[in-house]
Amino acid sequence: MVDVILGLQWGDEGKGKIVDFFAKDYDVVARFQGGPNAGHTLYVDDKKVVLHQIPSGVFRKGIINLIGNGVVLDPVTLKRECDTVASFGIDLKKNLFIAERTHLILPTHRALDKAAELSKGTQKIGSTLKGIGPTYMDKTGRNGLRVGDLLDKNFTTAYIKLRLKHQRLLDNYNFQEDITAWEEEFFEALEFLKELNIVNGEYFINQQIKAGKKILAEGAQGSMLDIDFGTFPYVTSSSTISAGVCSGLGVAPQHIKDVIGVTKAYCTRVGGGPFPTELDNEMGEELRKIGNEFGATTGRPRRCGWIDLVALNFACMINGVTKIVMTKADVLDAFKELQVCTAYKINGKETLEIPFQMDKQKPEPQFKAFTGWNTDTSAAKSYEILPDTMKTYVNFINEYLGVKIHYISNGPGREQLVEVYK
Ligand code: GDP
Ligand code: IMO
Ligand code: MG
Repeated sequence: MVDVILGLQWGDEGKGKIVDFFAKDYDVVARFQGGPNAGHTLYVDDKKVVLHQIPSGVFRKGIINLIGNGVVLDPVTLKRECDTVASFGIDLKKNLFIAERTHLILPTHRALDKAAELSKGTQKIGSTLKGIGPTYMDKTGRNGLRVGDLLDKNFTTAYIKLRLKHQRLLDNYNFQEDITAWEEEFFEALEFLKELNIVNGEYFINQQIKAGKKILAEGAQGSMLDIDFGTFPYVTSSSTISAGVCSGLGVAPQHIKDVIGVTKAYCTRVGGGPFPTELDNEMGEELRKIGNEFGATTGRPRRCGWIDLVALNFACMINGVTKIVMTKADVLDAFKELQVCTAYKINGKETLEIPFQMDKQKPEPQFKAFTGWNTDTSAAKSYEILPDTMKTYVNFINEYLGVKIHYISNGPGREQLVEVYK
């Protein structure tokens, strides 16, 4: 049986914390897409850790963590992260497994990411510059190198061939950067990677399923950054939605049970692209300050705005969300009044649907106002004691989406999670 935890907005919904919390009820946690563009924050023994490549179940004892074939892997980031995790006394030899079909991010992929962004000028995506786009391009273009290739004696020859192709592209961009130091680090990290557990991911996970083990699939980014259904071209390059679990791990759809969607009680986005409910004003600044909304991977300030139910409804539809977790409710504690986007207006016409090209059609959000609870909720341990104004907010969202908020997260700490429904 497989449950999924994924982001319903533009990423950074708090997936890391939620996966870490729920991981204790599972046997395996598996990442199915994305790469080191992800930054998943958790608190272990009150220490903050940001994971980019390793699944967020890694700090729970006795749980297997799998990096699935749908992920793109930067060996340098992985090595660094393994060192951090090992410093907590975690034995990665026992609990980290990597699918051999996982594609490798090369130093030239990172250079190409930079070159492509630079060439876009004002139209740039705001990529994390981790080499994600170029690596997935080499995957679908049938050129990429995979983790399993490392064990082939011809790996270096294949690497040189691909680097040459990248060099030609970089020359076309007229992009010059000395990657010697990156390459040195890369090859050192490859030696480290070879010593980890490299497995056939699809057999590995299906054997676990057959043995009756519980699997938690961990998404990265968010549904609105999905390559197909996100705000294209301002998206990432992978399938961030529940369908990505099947191709990103080799799991058949009938094994998927719950799809747990994570949303903030408001909304953020980092990087370029449309964001209808964005608050480009003092209110947005306040959300950023109180919510500490700065990218976990790049440190960039996140754009902040009100919750967008049109986008959330769309995300629930394409993912088949069965349960919602609402995070960062405590960030709204400070506000006297809250707004919820219930519809868009495009060319004077109201719609409840996400348009084809959000960046060009520029939807105007239609808001419904709610009284804020304006009281500290971060210490609450049960739903009953939460303010009625918060319950009204939650119930409205539940009814609009037709999917219930099962948990409310009221702080970054591991145990700051209030159950609403089982
Ligand atoms: P992810 O990419 O979805 O895992 O989310 P990030 O880790 O990038 O960003 C979420 C941020 O919010 C992190 O700094 C978390 O520690 C923090 N966080 C998560 N849940 C809560 C919450 O309920 N309240 C507050 N105040 N912070 C939270
Ligand atoms: P987590 O898993 C928020 C954004 C980037 C950029 C666009 C494309 O922490 O939620 P890419 O590097 O993939 O080429 O960038 O997607 N982006 C994220 N935004 N959270 C993430 O991951 C993101 N990963 C990528 O800012 O706009
Ligand atoms: Mg993040």
